[in-house]
Amino acid sequence: MSLLDLHLLGSSTLRTRSVEVAAVDEALRQLIDDLFLTMDTAKGVGLAANQVGITKRVAVVDAESDRFVMVNPIITSAEGRQRAEEGCLSIPEVYGDVTRAERIVLEATDREGRRYTKEAEGLVARAIQHEIDHLDGILFIDHLSALKRQILLARWKKENRGKAVTKSLQPPPSPKK
Ligand code: NI
Repeated sequence: MSLLDLHLLGSSTLRTRSVEVAAVDEALRQLIDDLFLTMDTAKGVGLAANQVGITKRVAVVDAESDRFVMVNPIITSAEGRQRAEEGCLSIPEVYGDVTRAERIVLEATDREGRRYTKEAEGLVARAIQHEIDHLDGILFIDHLSALKRQILLARWKKENRGKAVTKSLQPPPSPKK
């Protein structure tokens, strides 16, 4: 497994609509494992492949002890509304309240290439919606008011001027023997 570099706001892959995965093969399983490792290392609740520069429709989620991969995910039904603060590994230290559906039904393909459906609500439903947005080139800041987004982006640009659009993560220290 490899720790992958995170792409940050300013990287074009975050604004690219990712392409459907044709088949779950060994290379894709490797990518899935790398996404889980990278998400865990970055302490995120979700990670989409275009956040590591790969514009394929694959994302992983780990929220409220629910851990799963979504290949070619679609939301087949959505109801209710929830509003809560979100952040994103690709826009560190920026947070904002986003309204999402409260309950959804997800349809996606798993690591073995099998299609599955899953009902989710609350934080898990929020994470799924956030990650599928990523696959469509959408970021959570796009859901904020224009004014709020302008303020956050102006601050981001000031603080990140001249910095790279990718970030290397530090592997966690190996456990003491
Ligand atoms: Ni994100």
